[in-house]
Amino acid sequence: MNATPYYPVFLDLHERRCVVLGDTALAEEKAVGLRATGATVVHLRRPFTQGDLAGAYLAIDASDDPEGQRAARVEADRERVLLNVADVTHQCDWIAPALVRRGPLQIAISTSGESPFLARALRERIETMFGEEWGPFTALMGRMRRRLRREGVSSDAQQRAYRRLVRSEAIDLLRDGDASGAAAIAVTVEQGAHSTGPTPLGEVVLAGAGPGDPDLVTLGTRAVLADADVVFHDALVGAGVLRLCNPRARLIDAGKRSGRRSASQADINDAMIAAARDGDLVVRLKGGDPFLFGRGGEEVEALQRAGVPVRVISGVSAALAAPAAAGIPVTHRGVAGSVAFVTGHRAGGELTALEGLARSVDTLVVLMPAELDAIAGRLAAALGDDRPAAIVSKATTPEQQVIRGPIGHIAAAARAARVRPPSTLVVGDVVGLLSGAGSLDLAGQPARAGAFAASR
Ligand SMILES: C[S@@+](CC[C@H](N)C(=O)[O-])C[C@H]1O[C@@H](n2cnc3c(N)ncnc32)[C@H](O)[C@@H]1O
Repeated sequence: MNATPYYPVFLDLHERRCVVLGDTALAEEKAVGLRATGATVVHLRRPFTQGDLAGAYLAIDASDDPEGQRAARVEADRERVLLNVADVTHQCDWIAPALVRRGPLQIAISTSGESPFLARALRERIETMFGEEWGPFTALMGRMRRRLRREGVSSDAQQRAYRRLVRSEAIDLLRDGDASGAAAIAVTVEQGAHSTGPTPLGEVVLAGAGPGDPDLVTLGTRAVLADADVVFHDALVGAGVLRLCNPRARLIDAGKRSGRRSASQADINDAMIAAARDGDLVVRLKGGDPFLFGRGGEEVEALQRAGVPVRVISGVSAALAAPAAAGIPVTHRGVAGSVAFVTGHRAGGELTALEGLARSVDTLVVLMPAELDAIAGRLAAALGDDRPAAIVSKATTPEQQVIRGPIGHIAAAARAARVRPPSTLVVGDVVGLLSGAGSLDLAGQPARAGAFAASR
């Protein structure tokens, strides 16, 4: 490996003399690439001869001719020409990155010559993350930047405007082919940059954090976390997911854990409203999906009452992910055609619907089964002691535990195994369905715990 890292640059080659050596497809490709930058390209399709590099600014030898390459190397040193010898890293002054091009936006990837394969593989991944709309979006940002600078708008106001445009729907509109809609947003943002009035309102985004594994955080949630100014997160949201937050974002633990004094719901709402009124992008990061037993609806109501713009990004709920991570399909043709999600909270008394619900669906998923003895007892009485059940604890994390057994014995089994919260109870014939299956690779399973833990 190189002792010192490469220095990444984007060169302006406009009207610079660039020489390409070789009569190969690669040489042709390099010549085309250089011409696209406005360079004056000399493509020599014959063996290297002395003087070929004279007066060149940059040269690429894609000739497959080791002897010629060595001679070109000597001449490049003498003439101080920056030379790249294709696929011969030790003879290169510079190496070309793998590129994702979206109009003026270019994302360059380099492994410092260690693995061109890896650079290409990463390029393919990044290509799926940045669609063609990023080209016109970058151009839109560029036009706005030139105008704001020309008009002498302060650098602080410019930064706020750029941030607003990046967070706006402009990119979505461009993806849908609505260039004029995107331009209209840019105009509004630009007008805001000139105004000396109060800071424009920010917004609150209720975003689902998924059940634990960062792989189960949606692209939408990842994008708002990367842009966030402040993140109010549940106690259950783990370090791996919090690492997806903008490094400059303020992280506020708004979680409610038993045995620990925590902020009231009203305090959390007030703090979110205040931050949004300061113009911040506020993310309320909630475990699983914000609208399933997450008080998401109450928070939306409070924010709407305060006149704060609010959006919701759905998340992967533990109600589905916990059974899935244990290999339990909540429905299965011929076995289970209906499923219900219910909270076990206050099951000792107030949860009157539990028995009726359990009898009327094929699969019952109980979240927050803290009073497991009471819940399992009632379900066993309603469904019979033998109905298959499972407790899935800390699903999709390296500490995941799955306890299976008949509903009549599941509480004792969970106690014996010292199951820790959060856990989810699943009841129904689907529980045992795949347990005898051969190899079953489950996303987020501790089978991947090594890699998962190492990334923390
Ligand atoms: C307050 S509820 C919130 C549910 C969340 N909104 C969702 O959609 O997943 C918390 C309950 O979700 C379940 N839960 C959350 N994360 C879990 C996990 N990693 N493994 C198992 N159950 C989990 C547990 O039943 C826990 O008591």
